[in-house]
Amino acid sequence: QVPLRVPRVLAPVAPDRYELIAREAEAEILPGVRTPIWGYDGTFPGPTIELRRGRTTTVHHRNDLPVPTVVHLHGGRTPPESDGYPTDLVLPTRGWSGGHSRHDPAARIAHSSRDYVFPLDQRAALLWYHDHRMDFTGPAVYRGLAGFAVVRDDEEDALPLPRGDREIPLLITDRAFAADGSFAYPSLDPSLTRVPGVTEPYTGGVLGDVILVNGAPWPVHEVSATRHRLRLLNASNARRYELSLDPPPPDGPAFVQIGSDGGLLERPVAHGSLVLAPAERLDAVVDFGRYPVGTEVTLVNRLGTGTTGHVMRFRVARRDRDDTAIPPRLSEVERLDRAQATVTRDFAFRSGLLGDRHGWLISGRAFDAGHAVARPRLGDVEIWRFVTDLHHPIHLHLVHFQVLARGGREPGPYDGGLKDTVDLGPGEAVEVITRFDGYRGRYVFHCHNAEHEDMGMMATFDVV
Ligand code: C2O
Ligand code: CU
Ligand code: CU
Repeated sequence: QVPLRVPRVLAPVAPDRYELIAREAEAEILPGVRTPIWGYDGTFPGPTIELRRGRTTTVHHRNDLPVPTVVHLHGGRTPPESDGYPTDLVLPTRGWSGGHSRHDPAARIAHSSRDYVFPLDQRAALLWYHDHRMDFTGPAVYRGLAGFAVVRDDEEDALPLPRGDREIPLLITDRAFAADGSFAYPSLDPSLTRVPGVTEPYTGGVLGDVILVNGAPWPVHEVSATRHRLRLLNASNARRYELSLDPPPPDGPAFVQIGSDGGLLERPVAHGSLVLAPAERLDAVVDFGRYPVGTEVTLVNRLGTGTTGHVMRFRVARRDRDDTAIPPRLSEVERLDRAQATVTRDFAFRSGLLGDRHGWLISGRAFDAGHAVARPRLGDVEIWRFVTDLHHPIHLHLVHFQVLARGGREPGPYDGGLKDTVDLGPGEAVEVITRFDGYRGRYVFHCHNAEHEDMGMMATFDVV
């Protein structure tokens, strides 16, 4: 009976200024077991950073870990020098003898700490921050380097949506534990990845067999019989989820989606279940008032079996007043039209050979720090077309995009609104459209399966 914990909100050290220290710590994740973690502020997940649209905010990051770090605000519209380019390392406070620039002369190396400056010229949305070090994002995030960042604005505040303790951020991950209680992450043993075309132990990325919500296994949360806003983030390295409620509510679909990666949708969309690929966020309202008091409602994962088939439980504890509502019109989203696009680019996300090794590639190339594969002009609208072999959740830094087509047809049920990560299915072509505005400079796009990213499925675009 582990209760759901909501991550602590980080207190500013001065107005619009935060301090975020990455350090080694221990956490009690499984009851009675100490698990060594790498945590922002020593916790997993890290503390939630509450942000306000249009208020430039500085996060001073200090790296007390034994390895370099890179902080990325995922979903942030951030100038390049604060976006966490994978070679822009913050070297450890204690001595570091390892290399750093990997032939990237433009890398911005910092020693022990750095200021990340976020102008936050962007809509209210659920973002997250996590480590983004080249070649090592998977193991670093797996050890705990991830947390929420919530951007709020007046438009969203004016809506009668559930708030306070009826707005619940849920960071969903899977982890495997070794016998001593530590996280078990398969080593990046090259012998495991040598044979092309052979199914390897983690071709699909690293999966765990325990689902954690806000760092707790199979937690339970007491709710009143009212509407609740669930702000879901799939922070898993590689696992996809299809979430549904068991028992389903007696009348109609379980979830009303009100937002996605880039904030509110124009209109709510009802779903019986929610599909979330790594790094995707989904903002959904559940009305527990449709259940009798005393009901235990399980959030199940239809894509899992056994211990990965269930995520958490809600216990409907009491009746309560509910003066919330889901307005039929939530927001306005500027719709980009094909005719506005000046350039169309094609990218193929496939496995391939990297020397004699197996790698994950974008259009036949592995990540090459500093080498731009696309140079969109500032302010231009472009269409990017993605094709794929397997499941790959594709993420672009800096911009939010709209899905134009999936598999030659209409966008899918979860493609609505503004996205920064799109879930590509096997063999599926997806077209997205976006305007490259905000800042000039270099950014990355990549598969957000963290192991695919580390094994090369990442590339640079340079906004010029
Ligand atoms: Cu959430 Cu480039 O990452
Ligand atoms: Cu990102
Ligand atoms: Cu991938």
